[in-house]
Amino acid sequence: MRIRPHIEIDSNKGLLIGGLPAVKLAEKYGTPLYVYSEDAIRESMREYTSALTDIYPHHTIVYAGKAYLTMRMAEIVHEEGLWLDVSSGGELFLALKANFPPEHIVFHGNNKSAGEIAMAVSSGVGRIAIDNVTELERVQKEAASQGVVQKVFLRLTPGIDPHTHEYLSTGVIDSKFGIPMHSGQHLDAVRLTLASPNLKLMGIHCHIGSQIFDDSPFLLAADIMVDFAAEVRDKLGYVIPELDLGGGLGVRYKDAGPDDGNGIRKHLRNAAKRVAEACFRKGLPTPRLFFEPGRSIVASSAVTLYTVGTVKALPNGILIAAVDGGMSDNPRPALYGAEYEAVLARPSGGGELLSYRLVGKHCEEGDTLVRSACLPELSPGDVIGILVSGAYQYSMKSNYNHLPNPAVVHVAERQSFVVVERETLEDLVAKERPFSHPLGKAGPEAASGG
Ligand SMILES: Cc1ncc(COP(=O)(O)O)c(C=O)c1O
Repeated sequence: MRIRPHIEIDSNKGLLIGGLPAVKLAEKYGTPLYVYSEDAIRESMREYTSALTDIYPHHTIVYAGKAYLTMRMAEIVHEEGLWLDVSSGGELFLALKANFPPEHIVFHGNNKSAGEIAMAVSSGVGRIAIDNVTELERVQKEAASQGVVQKVFLRLTPGIDPHTHEYLSTGVIDSKFGIPMHSGQHLDAVRLTLASPNLKLMGIHCHIGSQIFDDSPFLLAADIMVDFAAEVRDKLGYVIPELDLGGGLGVRYKDAGPDDGNGIRKHLRNAAKRVAEACFRKGLPTPRLFFEPGRSIVASSAVTLYTVGTVKALPNGILIAAVDGGMSDNPRPALYGAEYEAVLARPSGGGELLSYRLVGKHCEEGDTLVRSACLPELSPGDVIGILVSGAYQYSMKSNYNHLPNPAVVHVAERQSFVVVERETLEDLVAKERPFSHPLGKAGPEAASGG
């Protein structure tokens, strides 16, 4: 039975990821383990890249690397003809190391350092999305000192509440991101950009938030942005050639039917039509349209595998199964109350289902991966797969409690291969310098002078 694209449950082999048994992958690579189906990733990318070819060909899909970025992923993004959004010097560095074409990179971030700006300009990134006026001046200065003209977007905050988790709402007026579209600040920013000899204003950008299912906030954003483009034309005589509507399309973490589409095509077409209509109304040429999806490209392409260590029955009847990872490899449940679905990796044999609280191994009561997972009776050693774990998990991992980070494995054409090695205990202490105290060896003897 297909439960997600390229993820199935087979009555004889159990959970299959890209056609390979999850139990075998766990045996081969150990757990916890992030497993991605490249076919699933490519399929959702192709849905994005093909959705508008007939109605709005002048568009570009930019994959938001913050959702999941490895060098292999950067290669796939390029092979599939998408651009890449990076939001730190680290993400930029990785992309360049993976030979991603810099001219297809959009560089984001609400507090880019001087070093990051210099690196972005010198590497020739395609667009810098400028978050605020201070940054605008810094980018102008850096581009002037390097003797280049840098193409930029202005990130604007349209003041829309997309009704998602408050930590995921980035377009509301009190957001830390972007230039508020209030009290003329945004028009001043455009004026300043146009007056900056080393900046070329390519477009305006907004990203209203993430995990949004309803199209109406996106459509409202499209209207607001086009209205502003018309205001810029009327007041400053400049026709902004590009419009970036960000990412944010929601993904079903639980209870998705086997044939539920992810709504990519419909979402993109609705947004593009709305932009075209609004431009027609305002007498503007349609801009080159950018979208920046992250989650909806990668979330459902991955399963995280864990091994059950202990199973407990509490006095109140709650069953607890503890696995060998937790909030260090997936902070989303603790951070946003994110909910997931868990499946058993081995063939279940069709027995009775029980409700388990799946917890991690960290020293936090909040370290719960799934509050109520419906699973056959579990025993220590069983491998569990958490579905839809491809976005904002690997990228938000930590080493809390000094747990080494899991390996990342990709599956393509029924073959599996490591794209990031599992961290070792030695990796965890590699940057420690315990013998560097200026007074020599620290410790009670040194301290007492004895
Ligand atoms: C500027 C920008 N673009 C795109 C994205 C991707 O959003 P999502 O993963 O929800 O599609 C984000 C996410 O935070 C973002 O900040």
